[in-house]
Amino acid sequence: MTAAAAEPGWCSDGAEAIRAAARSARGLRGEALHAALAAVPFLDRDAWVDALLGLPVPPPDADLPRGAVPYLPCGVEEIVAMVRDAPLGADDELVDLGSGLGRVVMLAHLLTGARVRGIEIQHHLAAMACERAADLGLAIPFLHADATAIPLATRADARRTVFFLYAPFNGEMLARALARLAEVARRRPIVVCTVGVALEASWLVARPSSCLALDVYDGAITS
Ligand SMILES: C[S@@+](CC[C@H](N)C(=O)[O-])C[C@H]1O[C@@H](n2cnc3c(N)ncnc32)[C@H](O)[C@@H]1O
Repeated sequence: MTAAAAEPGWCSDGAEAIRAAARSARGLRGEALHAALAAVPFLDRDAWVDALLGLPVPPPDADLPRGAVPYLPCGVEEIVAMVRDAPLGADDELVDLGSGLGRVVMLAHLLTGARVRGIEIQHHLAAMACERAADLGLAIPFLHADATAIPLATRADARRTVFFLYAPFNGEMLARALARLAEVARRRPIVVCTVGVALEASWLVARPSSCLALDVYDGAITS
């Protein structure tokens, strides 16, 4: 861990300081990365993580179909809460439905070692996320697809599958996504974590979360 990122009382004096601290934290994983992130002033954490991952300013959105929500990256606070509350471990897999530039899956992978992947309807975002992951030496697949129009595959070698949704769609698209998640829940227990969208289905059981904006559900269909 680097002194700049980990020193108690470290305080940013601007964007360049954030970028420098984040660059020097590259290579950190797991608990060391958690500690480095915790040492970053709260308001600088999103920028610090984007600098760590080399994520650019979001490009303009493409034309989106009805029900699809434009790209806005999830806050780091909510991502860390999801990792903690799911909880996401190295034996699990994480699938982000509407993964944008990949902030959620890349950070969650670095923090936990979990197998992760993203599904994103906007081709240019999925392509940029692939590039960023490759640049960081991370073998993370970002599939360009409508996540509500394809069966949601799961890895047989993963202990559990955690699905993440940061308000990616609404209306009929959200209903189709719930049906896709139910298909998976018939095969195996799943955890569904959402930010900015509350889910309602008889097979989803909400449990308390440590973060106001995060909802966590256990899902299983037994009959
Ligand atoms: C609010 S952003 C969340 C991005 C990402 N999960 C994050 O937190 O950094 C919603 C994303 O969902 C994508 N999206 C919307 N509808 C989708 C669909 N049907 N299938 C896949 N992605 C979709 C949008 O293009 C956008 O990138």
